[in-house]
Amino acid sequence: MTEAWRPDGDDDRTRRTGSAVKVRVPAKINLHLGVGPLRPDGYHELNTVYHAISIYDELTARRGDTLTLTMEGEGAGELALDETNLVIRAARALAAHARVPAHARLHLRKQIPLAGGLAGGSADAAAALVACDALWGTGLSRDELAEIAAGLGSDVPFLLHGGTALGTGHGESVSPVLARPTTWHWVVAVAERGLSTPAVYHELDRLRAESAAPAPLGPADDLLAALRQRDPAVLGAALGNDLQAAALALRPALADVLKVAQAAGALAGIVSGSGPTCVFLAADAAHGGRIAAELAAAGVCREARTAHGPVPGARVI
Ligand code: C5P
Repeated sequence: MTEAWRPDGDDDRTRRTGSAVKVRVPAKINLHLGVGPLRPDGYHELNTVYHAISIYDELTARRGDTLTLTMEGEGAGELALDETNLVIRAARALAAHARVPAHARLHLRKQIPLAGGLAGGSADAAAALVACDALWGTGLSRDELAEIAAGLGSDVPFLLHGGTALGTGHGESVSPVLARPTTWHWVVAVAERGLSTPAVYHELDRLRAESAAPAPLGPADDLLAALRQRDPAVLGAALGNDLQAAALALRPALADVLKVAQAAGALAGIVSGSGPTCVFLAADAAHGGRIAAELAAAGVCREARTAHGPVPGARVI
């Protein structure tokens, strides 16, 4: 039994009026990223806790005679807008599944940095699925969209869901974490340049082969227990990322970012996903603002932003 994917009913309105559909999608961080062995298919088995935070990309879809993509914001002029772009691939995958022509004019407003460990590309793919589903009135079930999402990238199914969720498999198998609502406050330190996700996984394999990596984190039980306590100091102590050692090996300057934020009073800090973005837990919004200001003043990152989580996944707005 599948549930219809109708975040707010706007898709019906769009079908009637032919107006633009605007979708907002968040960035993700990993509160726990336990990386298992390399599998024969080239992916690593994961035990991760995804968490969606309030840094957003926006995708607008309008009717068109072909499929086109334009963009503004983070990465404009750098990011290829051709058939390799995940937004285009997502639109084509949805059209093929629903047997409709892949005709849309898509425009992306990016605030999530490229290759930052915040799943910006995956977020845009999730946004494209939700936007085109609404624009074309394909009305796919949540399960069908999640299946198409999994074919596009490990993080894409989570970005349809949002919130806080456990990820297993290579990250594509997602189940929500049920906890009493709590808002967590984060500081996000954006690096000058991105890191390649495959390169970071490869570096972890290399470090492990040389017994130079910390012991694997394994399952997320401690982190899940910490989330239930709703105390930022407890959550901070439970954050962990197996890719951190590899990201630091490839980008040693990240150690300075972690040090500055610790000295500024952050409750905890980790590399986000495969990095190089680092995220810090603050006691409240004002505390986060002070940490961000100190990071910016120290000049150890391109930009320090504050954010909160959890927030919903890709939604028509
Ligand atoms: O799934 P996605 O396309 O985002 O993954 C990008 C790359 O990251 C993969 O090709 C693989 O090299 C690496 N990866 C991995 N194990 C995972 C997820 C990603 O090795 N669980």
